[in-house]
Amino acid sequence: MTQVPAIDPRLPKSERYTLLLEQVKALQDPVAGAWANAGNILAALHFAFGFHWTGCYLVRGDQLVLGPFQGPVACTTIAFGRGVCGTAWQRKETVIVPDVDAFPGHIACSSLSKSEIVVPILNASSEVIAVLDIDSDAYNTFDEDDARGLESLTPYLAPCL
Ligand code: SME
Repeated sequence: MTQVPAIDPRLPKSERYTLLLEQVKALQDPVAGAWANAGNILAALHFAFGFHWTGCYLVRGDQLVLGPFQGPVACTTIAFGRGVCGTAWQRKETVIVPDVDAFPGHIACSSLSKSEIVVPILNASSEVIAVLDIDSDAYNTFDEDDARGLESLTPYLAPCL
């Protein structure tokens, strides 16, 4: 597949994630390899919803290191337990932040980011190997539909990272 059809923004969010999941499955190309597949998955996700920033931070020792992403320049390292990303890693659970200014220790890579969701990415042994981080330029963007939808996508990102 070289093109993905646009997902109708008027559809309920859960349906949009279901359609996106089919696109993500189809975007896995064994010839292209891991970096290209991760890039395509993140691009499909980013543009399907019009997010501000969509990317991965990879677990490297005791910190997270910037991985593939779509969007503005971002900070490159985050310590375990720090910021929203480090907190999701530490808790090993999805963290939804309706207002980044109200989250103690939030790391502001962009002044335009207003709300955020971070989903841990697990390997086959259920260890956190990365996190999927998404920023919105609006408050209250993310809810349980996003959490469940994104958690359905992360198993396809995991082998690319
Ligand atoms: N806001 C994140 C840092 C990464 S950027 O959003 C891309 C955090 O608090 O962990």
